[in-house]
Amino acid sequence: MPPVDIRSVSTLFSAEQIAARVESLAEEIAKAMPDDILVIAILKGGFVFAADLIRALHGAGMYPRVDFMTLSSYGVGTESSGEVSIARDISDDIEGVDILLLDDILESGRTVSAARALLLNRGARSVKLCMLLDKPGKRKVDCEADFCGFTVPDLFVVGYGLDYAHYYRDLPYIGTIDD
Ligand code: IMP
Ligand code: MG
Repeated sequence: MPPVDIRSVSTLFSAEQIAARVESLAEEIAKAMPDDILVIAILKGGFVFAADLIRALHGAGMYPRVDFMTLSSYGVGTESSGEVSIARDISDDIEGVDILLLDDILESGRTVSAARALLLNRGARSVKLCMLLDKPGKRKVDCEADFCGFTVPDLFVVGYGLDYAHYYRDLPYIGTIDD
């Protein structure tokens, strides 16, 4: 069972608000990037956002390929550990490829900056960051998103891919846990 009751999750962004923002993000991305990109979604948090965004990119006239990378910087609690490790790597060569690196939330910035450095080091032509959420109050390294869905305050958020102790990734909306 989830560690907190669903009744203590308050909605920050509804499914409808998220869907509308995903559409407009895809338009922004289509204007700023070539049509033929590789979307790399960071697992597990980025998979719901990635699934919706690639279809919106298709609608915006792009031809995204998709791959996944499992990175972890979090245990089961709500505080970042600061350690980033690769648990599952992408499968293809990325030499000369334009990459859209996508994740659920930019907090300390450690996870995506480590991933971006790695991809550039392997010869990617460009790496742009697309984050569903930005929590700027918790930044620890110099790292900003090129495309960002919503800015959130310093609260722990769940839903639409984001978990609390592995639960609530399935929520169709984004909410915050009241304590
Ligand atoms: P970073 O601190 O920017 O490296 O963020 C690392 C990861 O922490 C994100 O990809 C999320 O998986 C997780 N995370 C950060 N803030 C939250 C939150 O409010 N809710 C759920 N997961 C979070
Ligand atoms: Mg994550």
